[in-house]
Amino acid sequence: MHAVGIVAAAGSGLRLGADRPKALVPLAGRPLVCWAVDTLRDAGVGDVVVTVPAAELGAFATVLPMDVRLVVGGATRTASVRAALTAAGDRPDAVLVHDAARPLTPPDVVGRVLAALAAGARAVVPVLPVVDTTVTVDDEGHLTGTLARETLRRVQTPQGFSRAALADAYALLPADAELTDDAAVVRTAGIAVATVAGDERAAKVTVPHDLAVAELQVAR
Ligand code: CTP
Ligand code: MG
Repeated sequence: MHAVGIVAAAGSGLRLGADRPKALVPLAGRPLVCWAVDTLRDAGVGDVVVTVPAAELGAFATVLPMDVRLVVGGATRTASVRAALTAAGDRPDAVLVHDAARPLTPPDVVGRVLAALAAGARAVVPVLPVVDTTVTVDDEGHLTGTLARETLRRVQTPQGFSRAALADAYALLPADAELTDDAAVVRTAGIAVATVAGDERAAKVTVPHDLAVAELQVAR
């Protein structure tokens, strides 16, 4: 099975509020995107495409290995992954889509995703349980209900797909569609999505606190 890795790194990182795009923000001195590429490569996925903001092609080329392919992303994550998928071509059997914003994802997570694909899954996502009581609220913030926690999961990346299934799903999706992840894209095409165990260390860096936590993890 030949798998290609896509690292979504074309966002601006508004919620992190740094002086540069989030994927270029350093963790222990190295840009987040470098950590994310390493996770895929350490798990044996050597062929990697990274989506980058148009204005930052040069900055990404400077920090990433020469054999990583750079593709200009779009205005949304959905548009960015669509562009990378096109660039990946139709040779790979499988595609793993990973967030640059999950720098400390252990390669074991990638291994579990690859194993599920090898066992026949057409789509698979790493997930974690929800440990807090989770409720719904109305416009005033008043509780309207409690969700059945046993049925809830937090979804991480890398998400793995049969390349053909993911490409077909993107082809069916309207050009301006904006979905939060690629599992949602294949679900619009009616494809079943399997789950494997995620890892707390694969947490997404979204706000400054998340980066502080990541710095503590690598300092240990
Ligand atoms: N991403 C992308 N193209 C976009 C938007 C996001 O490739 N147009 C990538 C980001 O670079 C990130 C991943 O998708 O690695 C997850 O998105 P998110 O955490 O929301 O990052 P940002 O969009 O950069 O952050 P924010 O939403 O706070 O601006
Ligand atoms: Mg975003």
